[in-house]
Amino acid sequence: MGKTVDELQSEVDKRRTFAIISHPDAGKTTLTEKLLLFGGAIRLAGSVKARKASKHATSDWMEIEKQRGISVTSSVMQFDYKGHRINILDTPGHQDFSEDTYRTLTAADSAVMLIDVAKGVEAQTIKLFQVCAKRGIPIFTFINKLDREGRSPFDLMEEIEQVLGIRSVPMNWPIGSGRELSGVYDRMKNQVELFQGDDHSSIKVQKVEDYNDPVIREMAGEFLHDQLCQDLELLDVAGDPFDFEKVLKGELTPVFFGSAVNNFGVQTFLENFLQLAPKPEPRRSTAGLVQPTDEKFSGYVFKIQANMNPAHRDRIAFLRIVSGKFERGMSVKHIRIGKDIKLSQPQQFLAQDRDIVQEAYPGDIIGLFDPGIFRIGDSLSQSGDIQFDEMPTFSPELFAKVTVKNALKHKQFQKGIDQLTEEGTIQVFRTVSFDEMILGVVGQLQFEVFQYRMKAEYGVDVLLQRMPYQFARWLVDEKVDPSKFRINSTLVKDKKDNYVVLFENEYAMRTAVDKNPTAKFLETAP
Ligand code: G4P
Repeated sequence: MGKTVDELQSEVDKRRTFAIISHPDAGKTTLTEKLLLFGGAIRLAGSVKARKASKHATSDWMEIEKQRGISVTSSVMQFDYKGHRINILDTPGHQDFSEDTYRTLTAADSAVMLIDVAKGVEAQTIKLFQVCAKRGIPIFTFINKLDREGRSPFDLMEEIEQVLGIRSVPMNWPIGSGRELSGVYDRMKNQVELFQGDDHSSIKVQKVEDYNDPVIREMAGEFLHDQLCQDLELLDVAGDPFDFEKVLKGELTPVFFGSAVNNFGVQTFLENFLQLAPKPEPRRSTAGLVQPTDEKFSGYVFKIQANMNPAHRDRIAFLRIVSGKFERGMSVKHIRIGKDIKLSQPQQFLAQDRDIVQEAYPGDIIGLFDPGIFRIGDSLSQSGDIQFDEMPTFSPELFAKVTVKNALKHKQFQKGIDQLTEEGTIQVFRTVSFDEMILGVVGQLQFEVFQYRMKAEYGVDVLLQRMPYQFARWLVDEKVDPSKFRINSTLVKDKKDNYVVLFENEYAMRTAVDKNPTAKFLETAP
């Protein structure tokens, strides 16, 4: 027994499971690739690049699926580095953005926020950040493309605080910028990392006393050194000190500057990150906190991917392991349906091949073949009826009226809608006035997946007609008056009969809030 506990503890200690959050084009693919290369997972690095090449222009889901063979299987990437086992959860951008993207963040124990030095904090970063912030997970910031002209580091720190509401502490600081960039100063280790040669192809690392050390002056020149000293003096006086407790609570983000494409600052970042980032965290359940070192295996499904392999038309349920050791073929209780199931063909998502997992530990993600028994949020456990916290729901931002082309198919249509809503593929609303059905999603891809699956799995052709709404707010009010929500808005009900108002624009939403002082307008279901 003792040996098992020790083994479990040491496997947990070495794991780090995180997601990279960023706006498209900030350099996530590049950074991921570099990180994987450090881990010697070269096979994977190629596939990350290949995935990028498959930016699909077509909106045909079948096409997407074909082209995405690689991207989909690399939803989770695992590699080893200096005694650590690292799981990177992919959070797709562009058209692949969906509620799954948000839910994936529930499987991460920390996040890396990637920011383009010239563009600063962008829209998609804000959304993903907010989901992480709600969970209070530690967030590490990597400011990328330092080799390009960009905004001043102070400016970016200020923006991070203003827009995201989180304080920041630079772990390193650029020496020069853009074409003048010659390296970074590591504030924690007191060392300089300088580019060498005209093409910056190698990096020289030198320990120093502190940033005033004349060695830096010799290496980087007077001008850049003066600038560096000025900046760092200011930071020492006016900046936040590094406070590990605050980092862990998600109140302070350590900031690293670098250039992913030049592989500059990436390794330092990785090493610091591994040291500071939390190992697999416990998760809340109906039986209290479940610790990763609990010997009984448990986990929860956070994402279901349909039709990953067109030849088999299978579905994969992604399971985050919370506690215990997973062994292939083991039996666990599927809590919601109250039955034991055997986990015989689990997969890990390495490169194009779907490797069969023999064993896995807390923090790891495994893929389970799903013959239709899993839903998002399902708990699996060996220790009685524990149910992990429900998956959070998210406020939809895109809406479409849905109708069935062939009225005779109404029954299948309803069945499909019910199942796909339960699975979390889409959210469904009904208008109070005409009983029309409106779908709500956070990413266009969800509509395409819905349409495709209705046809493929339920044999129903559906028509989707985009509606001009942009916001959904759950209405909590004693006396709901539909006549109040007619101008640039409409009143609908969700599947649990909660009232929801859909608004066409922010102005309409603000007006409604002002005019209904006793009502509450919530972003998600109460
Ligand atoms: P994404 O996954 O976040 O969407 O971004 P991706 O890594 O694809 O990077 C977007 C673009 O930014 C790519 O250029 C990439 O090479 C570039 N990039 C990434 N890191 C850096 C950096 O540190 N400095 C500079 N200057 N550029 C960087 P692209 O032209 O779109 O693609 P490619 O032709 O380079 O593949």
